[in-house]
Amino acid sequence: MAVRNMQLQTALLPQRDLLTADQRFSTAPSCRFFTSKTSLRRSLSAAPRLCRAVLSTPSLKDESKHQNKEYEDDGRVFNFAAGPATLPASVLKQAQEELYNWRGSGMSIMEMSHRGKEFTSIIQNAEASLRSLLKIPDDYAVLFLQGGATTQFASVPLNLCKPEDTADYIVSGSWSDKAFKEGQKYCTAKVVWSGKSNKYTDLPQPGELSLTPGARFLHICANETIHGVEFKDYPSPGGDTLLVADMSSNFCSKPVDVSKFALIYAGAQKNIGPSGVTIVIVRKDLLGNSQKITPVMLDYKIHADNNSLYNTPPCFGIYVCGLVFSDLLEKGGLRAAEQRNIEKAKLLYDAIDASNGFFKCPVKKEVRSLMNVPFTMETPDLEAAFLKEAAAGGMVQLKGHRSVGGIRASIYNAMPKAGVEKLVALMKSFQERHAS
Ligand SMILES: Cc1ncc(COP(=O)(O)O)c(C=O)c1O
Repeated sequence: MAVRNMQLQTALLPQRDLLTADQRFSTAPSCRFFTSKTSLRRSLSAAPRLCRAVLSTPSLKDESKHQNKEYEDDGRVFNFAAGPATLPASVLKQAQEELYNWRGSGMSIMEMSHRGKEFTSIIQNAEASLRSLLKIPDDYAVLFLQGGATTQFASVPLNLCKPEDTADYIVSGSWSDKAFKEGQKYCTAKVVWSGKSNKYTDLPQPGELSLTPGARFLHICANETIHGVEFKDYPSPGGDTLLVADMSSNFCSKPVDVSKFALIYAGAQKNIGPSGVTIVIVRKDLLGNSQKITPVMLDYKIHADNNSLYNTPPCFGIYVCGLVFSDLLEKGGLRAAEQRNIEKAKLLYDAIDASNGFFKCPVKKEVRSLMNVPFTMETPDLEAAFLKEAAAGGMVQLKGHRSVGGIRASIYNAMPKAGVEKLVALMKSFQERHAS
């Protein structure tokens, strides 16, 4: 009984109270541990008896080298998918290790009651880590929902607008276009800027927007996953108009001033976890005004009042998101994530721009996405040959979205720099062999 109580106490520890990712790299003259937090805890308790365990903090370079070796040894490919997308190797391994018996509870997370103390600690820790990462002010609710970002296209107007209200939409690509079309069903939705005539390769300049006076909200897609355009600065709608952003494909890729937004939503499956979890961050004073027809599952107030446990939530997905949030915190937070993302994106865009037009990125330089990099080659045959070579070299899911074709490299937080370096090396060698 005493042992079980001790196990449960450990299970309920906040994740950040456990050892940090950096501490997972531990070296000593006669022993070396590279392991997950749980087994490290076990290993360390045994360590003094076996050898001298020294914890050291590796440089980012060492970490990247280690990660690449790990990828090769595990037979992992570099997965450039747009989502569901690659996750941090350390998170996957920790989830694997904890799958059968979560931290001594005797249960898998998939088997636990969502109202039990174990899962309560998991969801609370996930929320606390996300709040800390994004510095979310206390007057915002954080909701863990289901239905993907697509469901939010309806939930946003249903919760923020009366049917007769106007809502403005910037249509900068396929996803904001879908949000606008769904929004039309629940309010007077208006397109105030569209990039369609430029094939969604640009974004509005600050002075270029003429918003509807009294519009209830302005909706933007912070990063268009298919077209690869990303807002660098966000528009300020002014007056009482609320700013709403779909951040599905750049969520937690860089710091964001949450207080500029009334509402942020994001599907998890790009940067923060498996599909099935959708995060909504919403100002609390906006809760409780949903339209009469709003289904109970789309009503933010109901979810906020019930701490995202109104019904059975996607427990395992929320757990993985929590691991990713902890991992990001341990790796220096969102400022550090942004630096890594800038470095990776620069490698790729520089290679495209230095190719004398052999590779072309259609997106205007100022708004190029750090997350999704689309590019084309002279002919579809060349692109097909490139994709084939990439796959043979362990670089997969590089085909552009079916609606636009070409190539698209999604290089989210968890894509190792080595993956981008390998892609760039192939691009250079492919060009040497195929340029006329
Ligand atoms: C920016 C953006 N918004 C919305 C969606 C739709 O997300 P879901 O499939 O989770 O509904 C996606 C999916 O890729 C996306 O990239």
